Amino acid sequence: MYKIAILPGDGIGPEIMTEAYKILSVIQKKKKIKIYTKEFDVGGKAIDKYNTALPKNTLKGCQESDAILFGAVGGPKWNYLLPEKKPEISSLLFLRKFFNLFINLRPAKLYKNLNNLSPLKEKIIKNGFDILFIRELIGGIYFGLPKGRNNLNPENISAFDTAIYSTNEIKKISKFAFKQALKRKKKIVSIDKANVLESSILWREVVTKVSKDFPEVQLTHLYVDNAAIQLIKDPSQFDVILCPNLFGDILTDECAILTGSLGMLPSASLNKKKFGLYEPAGGSAPELQNKNLANPIAQILSLAMLFKYSFNLTNISLAIENAILLTLKQGYFTQDLSNGLNFVTTSTMGTKISENLLKIL
Ligand code: IPM
Ligand code: MN
Repeated sequence: MYKIAILPGDGIGPEIMTEAYKILSVIQKKKKIKIYTKEFDVGGKAIDKYNTALPKNTLKGCQESDAILFGAVGGPKWNYLLPEKKPEISSLLFLRKFFNLFINLRPAKLYKNLNNLSPLKEKIIKNGFDILFIRELIGGIYFGLPKGRNNLNPENISAFDTAIYSTNEIKKISKFAFKQALKRKKKIVSIDKANVLESSILWREVVTKVSKDFPEVQLTHLYVDNAAIQLIKDPSQFDVILCPNLFGDILTDECAILTGSLGMLPSASLNKKKFGLYEPAGGSAPELQNKNLANPIAQILSLAMLFKYSFNLTNISLAIENAILLTLKQGYFTQDLSNGLNFVTTSTMGTKISENLLKIL
């Protein structure tokens, strides 16, 4: 039996999670596997109820599960809070650190026959693209200490963060990235800002050193500013992109929009034991909340990643992906993917995908 802790959270989180449940119920109907799910409060919703974004009961539920399916947290209602109390930091970043989820996988795919969804010109996008971002998730400037404020002169406050990486942190994520590259096109581009930052100089050194153990894999380095350009100029040149935490955050959002919408990008955050937290990369999108307009695809693809990486059920994962692809090919689009005139609701999209899955499985 597989146990999944479900944490829908804030904003569009609960709506898109409802669609993921439809997929889970199809899988249980068609396959003889037992999946036990239990839902827990997290984020702003939990702050309102219990005065903490990550109640003890939620953390315990996650610890007792094999994987976490996460929606999104945060919104304008909780923006007044101090940074460390905000839902994003006190629940999501806390969970990443607590479970040692140093690997963040964000596959960004643009299918050849759906390339009209991309904002890029046809001549650039004609070949589609299939990029696997591997983002280091529990180090760098997000977590480096010290961070804080110097309030000595109220007229001129200063604030600071520390961009720090150790050899071991870089080694761990690089090794994982090279192993993934072996299963793909054997090409890695590593991102840094080694013309300016000390932490990036070390990043480049260590990645280069790790590459010696993987002679079949071709490694190139790109400065992050150049990478932002290359992604728009010709995304098809990339296969695996390895990034430090902050650069990975930024480039994966850029790449998400190149696939058509932020609502298309799933993510898996894993530790060594393949325990994982699976979430859409797009966030809580409070402006879309309760309108039945959000795109549930990133949430459903995150569930597909859960089956692949935590449960090792690759066939189910592939079937979910194919059901999504088929639904798009049939011409069903949510608002973000449409011309603004013809589109289906969040719930219709989820229903169509689950109907297709029922046929495929
Ligand atoms: C993401 C998000 C998070 C991040 C936020 C919500 C803390 O943007 O998963 O990309 O910056 O990592
Ligand atoms: Mn982000």
